[in-house]
Amino acid sequence: MKSFENKVAAITGAGSGIGRGLALELGRRKCHLALSDIDDQGLQETVDRASRLGVRVTTNKVDVADREAVYAWADEVVDDHGKVNLVFNNAGVALASTVEAMSYEDFEWLMNINFWGVVYGTKAFLPHLKASGDGHLVTISSVFGLAGIPSQSAYNSAKFAVRGFTESLRQELDMMDCGVSATSVHPGGVKTGIARSSRIDSSVRDLGIDDIGGREKFEKTFITSADKAARVILEGVRRNRRRVLIGPDARVFDWAVRLLPSAYQRISVGYSRFSTQ
Ligand SMILES: NC(=O)c1ccc[n+]([C@@H]2O[C@H](COP(=O)([O-])OP(=O)(O)OC[C@H]3O[C@@H](n4cnc5c(N)ncnc54)[C@H](O)[C@@H]3O)[C@@H](O)[C@H]2O)c1
Repeated sequence: MKSFENKVAAITGAGSGIGRGLALELGRRKCHLALSDIDDQGLQETVDRASRLGVRVTTNKVDVADREAVYAWADEVVDDHGKVNLVFNNAGVALASTVEAMSYEDFEWLMNINFWGVVYGTKAFLPHLKASGDGHLVTISSVFGLAGIPSQSAYNSAKFAVRGFTESLRQELDMMDCGVSATSVHPGGVKTGIARSSRIDSSVRDLGIDDIGGREKFEKTFITSADKAARVILEGVRRNRRRVLIGPDARVFDWAVRLLPSAYQRISVGYSRFSTQ
């Protein structure tokens, strides 16, 4: 997709962080917006700012874990805007726990949003993207979709799955030559609300992680702004990239896994022990 002007973009999780960054950057480039989130207040703040950019903005409260709601939203976006060219499966949550202690409730909560939410958003919008004749689907995985990390087994599971799902989809779309493409995005630490809204199980104490002050400590490792992340993602879409890495930390992850496909885990254990002291 060479230009975003007069296109229509649907974004999940648009009430904060990367989703809001994408909405505002697309609005600046004269792309019309269909925004959704479960957080009314955050969504309204994004709308207030995006509406000043002279583009059409519609909003829906949509829980991406609710399959019917996602399908209904996809139909509504096309009814409201006449078409949809871009879909950003962005909404996501975080969870820290050991595998041993993690409750199925927490594990399923995360998978329903971070994995199934992406599947629903993709399948619900794909026919509409094809009908637009010029479509692009973006999924937000993570560097934790490239490498496994202690305490992040649920998040790793979802983000590895999103990567595999998107890489397969991209090849199918290439083979169909249908005017739709797909990109898997792997951010390193981005300054957003994700750590604050995360669930942390006290079992992480077994790994030496502070379950009370852990969020703040984790946030300090975030180096890229959400606005910058949005610009990098849109450049990846413009260039039709299969994979987009965000931030120097993402590049370190990428190279570590390429150079040390399994031995990176020893470094990760060493680093995790060191950083929790
Ligand atoms: N911030 C980072 O460092 C980082 C790194 C790698 C990947 N990511 C991924 O980026 C994406 C965006 O996260 P962010 O960092 O901007 O976090 P954020 O918390 O700032 O924004 C996430 C948004 O998703 C919304 N959301 C949560 N559950 C939802 C649900 N069930 N249905 C609809 N919306 C829901 C939240 O209300 C929030 O507005 C996520 O998929 C996340 O996993 C973030």
